[in-house]
Amino acid sequence: MSDRSDTVNRYPFSIPYGWFAVCEPDDLTVGATKALYYFGTHLVAWRDEHGAAHVMDAFCPHLGAHLGHGGTVSGCEIVCPFHGWQFDAEGSNTNIPYSDRTNGRARIRTYPTIERNGFTMVWYHPEEQPPRWEVADVAEVTSGDFSGPKRTSHTVKAAIQEMAENSVDSAHFRYVHHTAEVPEIERYETDGHVAEMRSSQKFPTPRGVVDGRIDTTSLGPGLGTVRFSGIIDTLLVTASTPIDAETTQVRFSFYVRSLGDASTTSSVGEAFAAEVDKQFGEDTPIWEHKAHLVRPALADTDGPFMKFRKWYSQFYVEPVSDERTVFPPPYWPDKMDESPAKATASARHGQS
Ligand code: FES
Ligand SMILES: [Fe+2]
Repeated sequence: MSDRSDTVNRYPFSIPYGWFAVCEPDDLTVGATKALYYFGTHLVAWRDEHGAAHVMDAFCPHLGAHLGHGGTVSGCEIVCPFHGWQFDAEGSNTNIPYSDRTNGRARIRTYPTIERNGFTMVWYHPEEQPPRWEVADVAEVTSGDFSGPKRTSHTVKAAIQEMAENSVDSAHFRYVHHTAEVPEIERYETDGHVAEMRSSQKFPTPRGVVDGRIDTTSLGPGLGTVRFSGIIDTLLVTASTPIDAETTQVRFSFYVRSLGDASTTSSVGEAFAAEVDKQFGEDTPIWEHKAHLVRPALADTDGPFMKFRKWYSQFYVEPVSDERTVFPPPYWPDKMDESPAKATASARHGQS
């Protein structure tokens, strides 16, 4: 699904299904509404008087007002700013203030919503099928042994799958990120919605090379953890959300195993976040300008790209298109002169 009607599809795949972060719990205060846009869809999020978060389609079925712009919350229902119609958390019309009857056909699509691991997440499925898995707890987030999160956020003009493929691409570290060592993938295994990669990495330090590890777990297309160990244990929780089929927002939460001294822990966290964000900024122009090749020409020592793609393909309702083998970006006159430095500057940083 593309919103460009004048050209062919940017990618051979559409928006995957899964659990995706749409905001952070602090973004939603009790009784407030918030306008959102993900999955190529205008949405409204709101928090009821019991503290539960809800996400639903934005437009009131009466005459189309956006419930996230002026909508209010009354108890456990949302009230339209235009003519005061009221809807419950299931999206049913419960009150029309100037009529004795409700409208049974006036329903709003709702999305299963949970708050876990520091994110407000919704289950998105293009055909509105119910959740196929639960979102697992990331132990370190609540353990008390780790400090954080420090948060950042980036928006990239690339499909969510295209960016996720970076996780199996060990060779690019040397060329894009100029790291002295590249991670060595020991194991890449998939099981249902979970994909796990175990890799070892040598970290050069002033006192010599330290053996470390980078272990990545993907919990469906929307949530992942990257655990770095060797020098200092750090955890990166990644939440990737399709804004539409060719635009993705990535939220990072950084955690550091507490070092006893709060200011040292926090400066390690800052440095960790800065390095990951720098690398993300280096990847961004590659993602935005690259073609998606259905049949890439791989080296025998490349990472498990095709295994990754096969795992990822389970999250699409429509089969991945094979009508073409090359899916280039559109011609973007405004992007022709963009330098990597400029692209990096477009990354938006959240607050710690
Ligand atoms: S448009 Fe929502 S009540 Fe009329
Ligand atoms: Fe990268």
